[in-house]
Amino acid sequence: MSQVTIESVLQEERVFEPPAELAAGARIGSMAAYRELVERIEADPDAFWGEQAREQLHWFEPFHTVLDWSNPPFARWFEGGTTNLAYNCLDRHLDGPRAEKTALIWEGEPGDSRHFTYRDLHGEVCRAANALKALGIGKGDLVALYMPMVPEAAIAMLACARIGAPHSVVFGGFSAEALRDRLIDGGVKAVITADGGFRKDKPVALKPAVDRALADGACPTVEHVLVVRRTEQPTAMEPGRDRWWHELVEVQSADCPAEPMASEDRLFVLYTSGSTGKPKGVVHTTAGYNLWAHLTFQWIFDLRDDDVHWCTADVGWITGHSYIVYGPLSNGATTVMYEGAPRPSKPGAFWEVIEKHKVTLFYTAPTAIRAFMKSGREVPDHYDMSTLRILGTVGEPINPEAWMWYREVIGHGRCPIIDTWWQTETGGVMISPLPGATPTKPGSATLPLPGIAADVVDNEGHSVGVDEGGYLAVRRPWPGMMRTVHGDPERFRRSYWEHITGDDGRPLYFAGDGARRDADGYYWVMGRVDDVISVSGHRLGSMEIESALVSHPAVAEAAVVGRPDDLKGEGIVAFVTLQAGVDGSEALGVELRRHVGTEIGPIARPDEIRFSDALPKTRSGKIMRRILRALAAGEEVSGDTSTLEDRSVLDALRV
Ligand code: PRX
Repeated sequence: MSQVTIESVLQEERVFEPPAELAAGARIGSMAAYRELVERIEADPDAFWGEQAREQLHWFEPFHTVLDWSNPPFARWFEGGTTNLAYNCLDRHLDGPRAEKTALIWEGEPGDSRHFTYRDLHGEVCRAANALKALGIGKGDLVALYMPMVPEAAIAMLACARIGAPHSVVFGGFSAEALRDRLIDGGVKAVITADGGFRKDKPVALKPAVDRALADGACPTVEHVLVVRRTEQPTAMEPGRDRWWHELVEVQSADCPAEPMASEDRLFVLYTSGSTGKPKGVVHTTAGYNLWAHLTFQWIFDLRDDDVHWCTADVGWITGHSYIVYGPLSNGATTVMYEGAPRPSKPGAFWEVIEKHKVTLFYTAPTAIRAFMKSGREVPDHYDMSTLRILGTVGEPINPEAWMWYREVIGHGRCPIIDTWWQTETGGVMISPLPGATPTKPGSATLPLPGIAADVVDNEGHSVGVDEGGYLAVRRPWPGMMRTVHGDPERFRRSYWEHITGDDGRPLYFAGDGARRDADGYYWVMGRVDDVISVSGHRLGSMEIESALVSHPAVAEAAVVGRPDDLKGEGIVAFVTLQAGVDGSEALGVELRRHVGTEIGPIARPDEIRFSDALPKTRSGKIMRRILRALAAGEEVSGDTSTLEDRSVLDALRV
């Protein structure tokens, strides 16, 4: 863990109270109500979570134990109970008028759109679930999804949940190599994909990447590939392995009972980057995740029955899982899914979607907001966005300028800004304002949600003082927490629970972020303290990019660091030493960037490659990233450099 510095501490004095009319009808409508709820939970957390689980979810069999924390860090929630996430998202909304309510609005990039009522979506999911069964896929079989943002992605996720087959969604922007690694690590039985998707006004093929991932028997566990037709590009199909979705799914019956799943049965695996090794498969289980996605969605957006919610994330990330699909549908809300992104031909694409579908709750990333700022307020000013009630942000720290712009230009000062801190590992939001209760400050995620025992601590697990930097940690289990790393429970313990121990000898959950807390107890998240780089809110491990670079024959050694970037939050700088006899030309730099794109995906391409004869190392051979980070940012190298093995390396790198 690197040292937390709080040079970036902001002297932010602005405070915005929740709008009175919003507070008046809110579920949690004042700070007094928030504090009362916090106190009630603190008095008996298990009683509260048990009550919420009983009230908010449908159970086939009731649970007998709320939490078993006898073997930390392996928590077991709601033991004895059986439930089904797809049932909670669909079937229970079918008795009564909600059956005809719009569940999913899908907006395609070329402007085509589809609406699904809860009844429609239920039928589609049942058919897809029966199709999976027809392929011999059942409870416990891992199914990978490698898809564009089409409704079938959400339908496939729900179909997997319905039959108890855990899904592993792989972001469609990852390369064939990255997909292959995830298929192998998971032991995946079937892949659901599409011929392609639309990006920047053009069809982009996806299925060939699946073919490359599976080539030469690289993934022997994969038996089936189901292909959604989206772009109608010519697509090679391998007989016996590949089937068209429309041929197989449409002939199925729309009747498929939801499989009763034990609370702790696996729901999904989602790969994310850490500071060491390959991406890890974060495992979430059925009931705890369902409750957390459900409850947090209700709380942070102060959900009303007529809300139209739009989260701009991709379903390949946890934000898409929890706040496009599961949180909204479990609550019976209307959720919007958008295939496109703003692009030069359509800079107002997002605002057009908001106007067209009368979106009330909007959830996006700081990177997107910063890009909108750059193209000026004239673009959003053209659209009628008066339906908006609440504006959320997620994924990276939001700078106060972007926060204020979001509030003024998009929200016209009417909508609370909800800066939500959380992670793939936490399942759902952990620290966030409650729109009807919490006064907000630009750049702060404000306060932990009720029941979340967050803290800012030092290496020994002691809470640090006001405005002192420390590590963001969580002292007590919560229902949505990840349960393990797929295939590697020790890595789960090592990565998250061994860094910090509390006074009571119990391990604390270490999030990997640095934070400080101000005099009002507000959290200011300062970013990662490990070697994870956040590019446009996408999480990448330095080591993954380094491995990709050294897999190129010209490269001897590589060290990758992040550097501040006005638009993307962080950019990637790679320091590369080459094999003897190879020259660091501009062309080689271009080739290495392309190579990283092929190995991982375009988001991992370094912004800059610096060739050097050697890298700064300690006497024991460890690369001193602190020095490289300073060099990449164009800063003076400060602090102790006495452990540096060869000081001349530093001088060479500086030029
Ligand atoms: O560094 C924090 C940052 O994103 C990391 C989690 O990334 P991921 O698992 O990909 O999930 C992103 C979406 C939940 C965190 O460790 N992060 C997320 N939200 C915020 C944030 N940093 C500052 N402020 C936030 N609101």
